[in-house]
Order: sequence, then C-alpha cells, then structure tokens
Amino acid sequence: MSEVKKPVFQPNKAFAKEARIKNMCEYQELQDWAHEDYEGFWDHFAKEKIDWFEPYTNVLDESNMPFVKWFEGGKLNVAHQCIDRHLDSRKNKAAIIFEGDRGDKQIITYLELYYNVNKMANLLKNEFGVEKGDRVVIYMPMIPEAAYAMLACARLGAIHSIVFGGFSAEALRDRIIDAEAKTVITADGAFRKDKPYMLKPVVDKALEEGCECVGKVLVVERNGEDVEWVAGRDYSYNEMIDQQSPVCDAEPMDSEDPLFLLYTSGSTGKPKGVQHNSAGYILWAQMTMEWVFDVKENDTYWCTADVGWITGHTYIVYGPLAMGATTIMFEGVPTYPDAGRPWKMVEEYKINQFYTAPTAIRVLHKTGAEEPKKYDLSSLKVLGTVGEPIDPPAWKWYYEDIGNSKCAIVDTYWQTETGGHMVSPLPGATPIKPACATFPLPGIMGEILDPETGEKVGAGESGYMCVTRPWPSMIRGVWGDPERFVKSYFGDVTKDGKPVYFTGDGANYDEDGYITITGRTDDVINVSGHRMGTAEVEAAIKKSSDVAEVAVVGKPHELKGEGIFAYVVLKNEENLGELVDTMKAINNVIKQEIGNIALCDDIVFVPGLPKTRSGKIMRRILRSIAKGEAITQDTSTLEDPAVVGQIESCVKNGSC
Ligand code: WT7
Repeated sequence: MSEVKKPVFQPNKAFAKEARIKNMCEYQELQDWAHEDYEGFWDHFAKEKIDWFEPYTNVLDESNMPFVKWFEGGKLNVAHQCIDRHLDSRKNKAAIIFEGDRGDKQIITYLELYYNVNKMANLLKNEFGVEKGDRVVIYMPMIPEAAYAMLACARLGAIHSIVFGGFSAEALRDRIIDAEAKTVITADGAFRKDKPYMLKPVVDKALEEGCECVGKVLVVERNGEDVEWVAGRDYSYNEMIDQQSPVCDAEPMDSEDPLFLLYTSGSTGKPKGVQHNSAGYILWAQMTMEWVFDVKENDTYWCTADVGWITGHTYIVYGPLAMGATTIMFEGVPTYPDAGRPWKMVEEYKINQFYTAPTAIRVLHKTGAEEPKKYDLSSLKVLGTVGEPIDPPAWKWYYEDIGNSKCAIVDTYWQTETGGHMVSPLPGATPIKPACATFPLPGIMGEILDPETGEKVGAGESGYMCVTRPWPSMIRGVWGDPERFVKSYFGDVTKDGKPVYFTGDGANYDEDGYITITGRTDDVINVSGHRMGTAEVEAAIKKSSDVAEVAVVGKPHELKGEGIFAYVVLKNEENLGELVDTMKAINNVIKQEIGNIALCDDIVFVPGLPKTRSGKIMRRILRSIAKGEAITQDTSTLEDPAVVGQIESCVKNGSC
C-alpha cells in the first residue's frame, strides 16, 4: 500500500444542493435500505422508473443462481421506455444531437426519434420479416441511424448484436454465425478525419462464408461512396425508409426477454456473447444516468464512446433516452481537426456532463494541453471516465484544466457484463480521490474478497472485486453457452459457501474504505479501455504460416494504458533474416482476423517460451520481461530455465 495519502476533493457545494443524492448520509441511507430490504429497494425503483404495460408479480427470483429473474411477469418495451413515454412532456426536446466528422449537424427531437424508429421497425418487420427473438447484427458508424436500428429492434423485440466498426470481416463473421443473425444493418461507410472510410465491403467479405443464416442486409448510405449491391440481399435504407409508416406498435416484452447481445473477450477461447435482458437492464441504465451523471431536464450530455461498446449502449443510447435526456452522438475523432475539437463542442453545445476514457484524456493532454484554455468550458458540471484505471497526471489535467477544479470527476468502474456502473462516486455526495472509483453504488453489493477464504479483505489488502448479490442489469447468460457463463463468472470466488460474481479485476480498500481497481487478474489485456483476450490474439497470430508458438502479454503504454507485446517462436530459423517482413505479416494477420485494435506494439522473436513441465506458459515471467523488470519468480520449475535469459537478451537487443 502506498504510504502517501491521496488528496481528497469535496463535492462542489452549489452543485450538491441541487443533486439527486446530496451527501454521504443520503448515500448511506440508500445503501442501508438496500442491505435491509433488498427486494423492497429494487421494487420501489422499478415501480417509480419503468412505464410498465403490465405489473410484475415477483421482484427477484434467485432460486436458480446464477440464472436469475428480475421483475417476473412484468411487461414493458424498452423503446417505449426510451421514446413513447416522453412524448407528452418532451416531444419537441432534442433527444439526439448529432455532429458529423466534417461538422455537419442534426438535431433529432423525441417526436422525430419516435417516427424514425417506427419507420425503421416497420421496414425490418414488413420488408425483412424480422420478428421478436430474431437476432440482428448492427455494424455501423456513429450516426443517428445506429441508434434508430437499436431502438427499432427493441421495439419489435428483436435482439440486436452490435459489432464495433473497427472489427475485421473475420471477427464480424464469427459474431454473425455465433448469434445466427437473420439480418445485418450496416452503412456504406462514414467519415473520419475528413475522409470517407468503408464498412459495407467488410460485411460483404464476412458474408462470403458460413453466414447462410443472413437473408437480408440493410445499408444506410452515409458517405455516398460506391459499394457493391447483391440483388435480393442488400437494400438501401435511404430508398426505402420514406415509404414506411411512422407508426409501429411496441411489442409487449417480458421483463426477462433478451434485449441485446454484445460480444466481449474472455481469458480463453473465442469472444462470448454477453446477454442483457429488458427490464433490469433499462432500469439500472436509467438509475445510474440519474445518480452518477445527475443530468437535469435542460442539460446536454455527451459520452464520447462508440455504440459498438457497452458504454455506447448504456450511456449514449439507452440510459440517456430512458431518462429523457439530450444525448450527443459524434461521428469523428477527438483530435481532428485538432485536439481542441471536444472542447470546441463543449462550448458550442454548452455540454453539462462529459464522459470519456482515460486513453482519450491522455491523448488530448499530450497533443493539446493548451487547447482547453481557448474555449469556454464553464457549462461543465460532471466529468466521467471509464474503461481503465485513470493515472493521476491525466486525472489532474482533467480535474483542473477541463473541470476548472469545480466539477466532480466520476471514475466509473463497470464492465460489459454489469450493464451499468457498479463502483463510482456520486457527483454531489462523494468526496473524491484521484484515480479512485470510491464506493459501490446504492443497491450494488460490491465487495473486495479474498479469493481463498471468500472474506472481505481489510484496508490496504488486495483482493478480487466481486458482487455478492445479483443486481438487475447483470449479465443473464453467454449466448448459446450456459456452462461458460457459470464457469466464467461464478467459478472463482465462494462466499459463505455460495459462488459469487467475480469481475476478473483486482482491487483494494484504502484506510477510508475507498475502492481502487488495480486491473485484470486474468489473461485479458486492456488496450485503450477495450478488453482484448490474449488467447484471441495468440490464435490470430498462429494463423501466420511462419509461426510455431506465440505468447502475448500486456505492457504498460503511455497512451493506450496497455499495449500488446508478442513473443513469437518461428518455425524456421532461416526466416530470421526477414524479420521485418515477418513482423509485418504477423500484424497483417491480426488486422485480418480481429482488426486494428489488436495490433501488436512489440513483436520479439525468441528461441522458445518459458513453460512449466506440464506445458503451461508462465506469462508472469513474460510480463516482467516486457516491462523490463527483474525476474523475481522462481524459474527452477521451468522445463528449460535457460530460456528466460535468452528471452531477456532477445528483448534487450530487439532480436535474437
Ligand atoms: C474492464 C471492462 C465498462 C465499459 C468500458 C469497458 C476495466 C472499466 C474501469 C475503471 C479501472 C476499469 C476493468 C473491467 N475498467 N472501468 N473506472 N477503473 N478499470 O468495458 O470492455 O467490458 O471492460 O475494464 O478491468 O473489468 P469492458
């Protein structure tokens, strides 16, 4: 534990006065309520927040843990919750403000959103035959039609599975096949740094093999570039949408009907389709929007994520719209035309809450430290971060230069599987410490447990970040693989004889009980706030014909948080002469198999890997070598202890 006490920053008093949760006593009251009457607590909020078509009969059924049911018997529709129920009071309020890469703008009111979503739903239903329970893969840029597509699926009860636009054709194909998707919604492409880039050709390539399940592809024409059209399969959204009726009934859904799948990396095997269901997910998306960002009726909120990740799902589309907020959608990159772009937008739209990732903060800080001074950022009230631990220098710049030392920084800790925030400051209540996620939110039984004993660890001790009771927006399953669901999340930590949800992250309490997340305890790397499984990257690299063996580990990276470091054993020593070409070939394979996000920052060719006698690769040794640390692990159990020294010298020299 560090001996230096972290400074504490009290919430802004004027802000706290108006906040939904005003001080730590109010926080504690809510948390006590949840502890004393867990079901009563959730019952209260489910009744207050959700516009039910039919009431539920049971709050929580945990008799078949970890397969839980929340709000059983209830009927609702998430698109209705996000749109229709606002039409009385907010019909002409901006729901989505879109800004394109080139500065083009669109303001979509709740009434317009209602019409646009209904038309898209009618198109999917009447022209494509999409029905309740069908899977629809969405492979889209950051344009309003991506949100319409999500909400149109929700309206029909179809299950969407968004694949991030940076994933390759192979990765897209795997996800289409795993979900047995019936329809793909995409765009010709979009704009980035003033230039068109393409998505449709990636879909074409993905569909070349093994995707017989896909009957129809809907293409939104965004950048107007030429694309190929497959007759009878591909349809233009732009040509068809105006013929659709702007009215479409919202399908009454059971609380536990699936809302979406989102694939994420695990420590082993292929990505898993994390399943979220309707009522619990939307309830917590809305509650955390209200508590953690404290968005007010006339506020404008901006989350810079991409809809391809969970942050984009919960905190660009579902959460903000469920509470009736105005949410910004931005197509471009934060550093174009310069690193002042986000601050220019904050000034222009008078953004009140701004939510981004530490990696973006580091890049903006490094490339444009003086940019914020050029703009009026006084509208900002709450600044959020997510995706990885934020380092103190980035935190300081964010707090002082962006927030003018008056905004709360909410360091929100959560993951794809949790659906919404788990551990986070409350902006009007929690005294914050730099780079510290602070306390579990009210209703969340988050605890750091000792993996051996299942007991809560003491101050200064490290343990595993767990959640000891099911919460409404918890993952409901891994698509098509219930065993993997149980094993991945409920296999490692047992408390009082019962398996509890383990996040995969290590954490510790400080002397005041504050939670600091220290990072993954498994073989998952966090690259720019995105999870990358080492097994996945290794499987991709192994497809390169020159490679005999490979192990990848994470290595601290100035901007990305972690970069990917690969140790490669070549089949043929003679190839050593063409290492540069081989390196290029390896990164090309990764690009093809996964996408640019998984490219290696370092590739080192080594004569062998450090393995135990049973053949297990000792990754800890490889992590230490990548960081340039001295090896403290016992290497005597290795099959060939000499290999460690050889690898060290390869890394030092950049080659063998
Ligand atoms: C993993 C989840 C949650 C949306 C974005 C990423 C890490 C997330 C924090 C934070 C420290 C964090 C964890 C977690 N993480 N937020 N505030 N402090 N670490 O979603 O791809 O599911 O990744 O990101 O390691 O397990 P994801």
